[in-house]
Amino acid sequence: MELEQCITNRRSIRRFQKTPVQYEDIVAMVDATRWAPSWKNSQVTRYYAVLQEDRKNQIAQSMPAFNQIACLEAPLLLVACAKKARSGYNRDGSFATNKEKGWQMYDVGLSNMLLSLKAYELGLGTVIMGYYDEQVVAQAIDLADDQEVVAVIAVGYADEMPEAPKRKNVEELLVIK
Ligand SMILES: Cc1cc2nc3c(=O)[nH]c(=O)nc-3n(C[C@H](O)[C@H](O)[C@H](O)COP(=O)(O)O)c2cc1C
Repeated sequence: MELEQCITNRRSIRRFQKTPVQYEDIVAMVDATRWAPSWKNSQVTRYYAVLQEDRKNQIAQSMPAFNQIACLEAPLLLVACAKKARSGYNRDGSFATNKEKGWQMYDVGLSNMLLSLKAYELGLGTVIMGYYDEQVVAQAIDLADDQEVVAVIAVGYADEMPEAPKRKNVEELLVIK
């Protein structure tokens, strides 16, 4: 599939069919994220593929109502996590820039973008979700203390074809000096 087509036609999908996501497709999505840029190539992003209903339910219950349908209908949740204290840090543990914390969010975001585009190419729909109870999600996936949850991504075959939400035009986004 042409990159341009992938970029413009991918939509956030919030209603899903029951059809399961094949193991090979889960691997292919995460494989695509290996090529994302990251802070000093630190590659801090990790994905937890949640297929078990009880774990999915725990995660869904930790979300506001507007996220629960996507979470419960999607046959697969990918919890995007980050290794702590690597991205944006020097070797001695000090911050590398005056922005200090937060660079791992950037890295995981770049990985999630590639994952979403790869999913679209495979015919799968995704929605990245930022509303959840971090402690509940971490517990549901038995997350180690040296990692943190960044986003929950519902994945499956779309049961809707949403209109593209309006985008700003380039003149609003680009400043040339
Ligand atoms: C960091 C982040 C968090 C988001 N959180 C949610 C969410 O909690 N629930 C939801 O329905 N959509 C969520 N979205 C999806 C956006 O609403 C969506 O990308 C935006 O409206 C543009 O629509 P499109 O993805 O179809 O182009 C999130 C997107 C991002 C990047």
